[in-house]
Amino acid sequence: MTINNVTPPPGRVSELQKRPDAHAARVYDYFIGGENGLEADRAAGAWIHMQAPDLLAAMQANRAFLSRAVRWLARQGVDQFIDIGSGFPVSPNTHEIALSAAPSGSVVYCDLDPAVGQRTRALIADKEGAAFVLGDIRSPEELLAQPAVRALINSGRPVACVLAAVLHFVPESADPAGITAVLREALPRGSYLVVSHIAGDIPWSDRNDEETLSRAFEDMYPRTREQVADFFGDFEFVAPGVVPATQWHPAEEITEAEAGLAIYGGVARKL
Ligand SMILES: C[S@@+](CC[C@H](N)C(=O)[O-])C[C@H]1O[C@@H](n2cnc3c(N)ncnc32)[C@H](O)[C@@H]1O
Repeated sequence: MTINNVTPPPGRVSELQKRPDAHAARVYDYFIGGENGLEADRAAGAWIHMQAPDLLAAMQANRAFLSRAVRWLARQGVDQFIDIGSGFPVSPNTHEIALSAAPSGSVVYCDLDPAVGQRTRALIADKEGAAFVLGDIRSPEELLAQPAVRALINSGRPVACVLAAVLHFVPESADPAGITAVLREALPRGSYLVVSHIAGDIPWSDRNDEETLSRAFEDMYPRTREQVADFFGDFEFVAPGVVPATQWHPAEEITEAEAGLAIYGGVARKL
């Protein structure tokens, strides 16, 4: 796995810390090598990188997992994808991987952030087979009722529902188990569910500042491996099941530190 080099923008370290104008989705975009962020996002990202380097590595591991999972699914012949909580577009995006394998396939992106929608729609404007819908995973029935999503589901053919680094923004009070059950139920037989999720039961190494981590996780709900596995219900896991994301079908040898990054990934199939 290659960790992108993140170059802090100019400014004293003490000034980088407090950037209320930074935006979580754009800081993530900066972490994974995107160019959708502003100076404030790069500053906040650089601060987090200095204080909690494994958080940056975990986000990059998440994005690499997402690409490997979509590539693996495309190799199984899956050509329909719903990517919920898709984030700002950063290449290789789901549609780039999926539609290059199957040019007549379909990819529907969904995010609740209108700024993500604007960027994604601009990118896919002339891409046959790719669409974006604004939606909230906490209202899965509404999301499934959107015409672009309904068209995939109603095709009767397998669909991959991708929930990469989004369920950890959903608190228990919003019933993530119920949400994933609604999504699983709607998918045609032979469909797949892809989930990545910040781990609550993998310790962060000492090189990460605890306060920075807890601030970064203020609006996040890390979960255990068992809780993440439960999101797949009775779907059949693709080996090796739910594992630290770096360990899911790694493309190259991974180091011990990478193997222990606190983010899970898994893929399972509806029988
Ligand atoms: C960390 S990014 C993940 C982006 C991409 N899936 C990835 O793994 O690289 C999380 C995205 O989830 C979106 N998000 C957060 N809560 C959401 C919700 N309730 N419904 C839909 N999207 C949501 C955010 O706007 C953000 O773009």
